[in-house]
Amino acid sequence: MISYGKQSIDQSNIDAVVDVLNGDWLTQGPAVETFENDLKNYFGAKNACAVANGTAALHLTGLALGWKTGDIIITSPITFLATANCIVYAGATPDFVDIDPLTYIIDPNLVEDKVKTYQSQGKKIKALIGVDYAGHPCDWKSLREISDKYGLQLVNDNCHAMGASYFGDKQYAVKYADVVTQSYHPVKHITTGEGGAVLTNDSTIDEKVRCLRNHGMTKDINQLENNDGPWYYEMHEVGYNYRITDFQCALGSSQLKNLDQFVHERREIAKRYDELFSGIDILTTPKTNSSIDHAYHLYPLQIDFEKLSFTKADFFQKMQQAGINLQVHYIPVHLQPFYNRNYGFTSGYCTIAESFYDRAVSIPLYPSLTDVEIEKIAMDITKFIGTK
Ligand SMILES: Cc1ncc(COP(=O)(O)O)c(C=O)c1O
Repeated sequence: MISYGKQSIDQSNIDAVVDVLNGDWLTQGPAVETFENDLKNYFGAKNACAVANGTAALHLTGLALGWKTGDIIITSPITFLATANCIVYAGATPDFVDIDPLTYIIDPNLVEDKVKTYQSQGKKIKALIGVDYAGHPCDWKSLREISDKYGLQLVNDNCHAMGASYFGDKQYAVKYADVVTQSYHPVKHITTGEGGAVLTNDSTIDEKVRCLRNHGMTKDINQLENNDGPWYYEMHEVGYNYRITDFQCALGSSQLKNLDQFVHERREIAKRYDELFSGIDILTTPKTNSSIDHAYHLYPLQIDFEKLSFTKADFFQKMQQAGINLQVHYIPVHLQPFYNRNYGFTSGYCTIAESFYDRAVSIPLYPSLTDVEIEKIAMDITKFIGTK
C-alpha cells in the first residue's frame, strides 16, 4: 500500500540514535542542546527549544505569549486541529479567517477585514497564527505589516514548510513571526518520531517556553526566591513535562543534514505530478506565489467531483483498492462539532475553505516515492476520473 506520507531513514540516522542509546544520557542530556543549536543554525533563530511534539510547541507558545480568557486569536481553518486547539488550551477564543483560493494560505486582506470588524465592536485581536500550509509560506510581509499596524502577536505554525524559501530566504520564518513552531512527526520533512520545537528571536519568550517545558521549574539563581542548597529548585508557574529525549534529538540532528535533499526530492515529485496532471480541467494542481519556493509537505490536488458521477468517498475507496492510501488535509477546523458547539461556527463561515475541502485530496508525496509509483498514482487517478 502506498501511503500519502512516510519518513526517510538512512544508516547515518540509525547510527546517530544508536550512539546515544550506548551513551550516558537518554533524556535531558547533551543531544538536546546539540539539536537545538542545529535548528538555530539552519533556521537562523536566536533561540530554539525542542519539545515533545508540535502540539506542545503551540501550547507553550500560547502560554509564553500570555494568552488568556477573553483574548481573541485568529488562524486559518485549513490546518491541523492543534493550531486552533492551542488557543482553546489557553482559555482564549479562536476565530477563523478564510484562505486564498489559489494558494490555500490565509488571505491577508481578510485578516485585515477581520481586525477592523472586531475594532468596530470595540474589541482587539491578540494574536494571529499563520500556517505555511502544505509547504507554501504565507504572505508574511503583509501579515507582519498588519500585525505591526494593529498590535497583534504573530505566530508561524511552520510545521509544513521546513526548507521552504520566502523571497529566496530559507530563514524567513523567525524574521517575520514573533514565534515559530515546528513538528517532526514522521510524515513531516524531518522526523524525531514525535517531536517539535519553538523558535524565536525573543529570548524572554524562549526562557518561558524552556521553563514551562519542564514543569515550570527553575534553578536559575537570579529567579529563586529562596535557596536551600545545590539541589534547590522553585516553581513559579505551572508547567508540563513536554521534554524530548536525547535519542530523538540525535535523530533530529542527523535528519536535519538531509533536509535540503528531502525538499529537493519533494519538489521533483511535485513537478512530475504538475506535468502528469496538466491540461485536465477537472483537476487543479497546487499553485505558488512567485515570492516563494514551496517545500511540498503535501500535494493537495483539487478534483471537481461535481463534474463526476461518483463521490470523493467512492474515489478514495477505488484508490485504496488500487493500493493507494489518500488523505484529506484538512476538514476545515471551524466545522468540527467542538468548534460548532462551543463557538457557534457553522457551514458558510469560511466558504473558500469549505469548497477547497469538498475537492481536496492529498496524494502520496515523500522522498522515497519511486518514478514507477508516481506514474501509477497519476495513471490511476486519471483513469478513475475518466480522463485516460
Ligand atoms: C499544521 C500543523 N500544526 C501542528 C501540528 C501538530 O504537530 P504534532 O503532531 O507534532 O503534535 C501538525 C501535525 O500534524 C500540523 O500539521
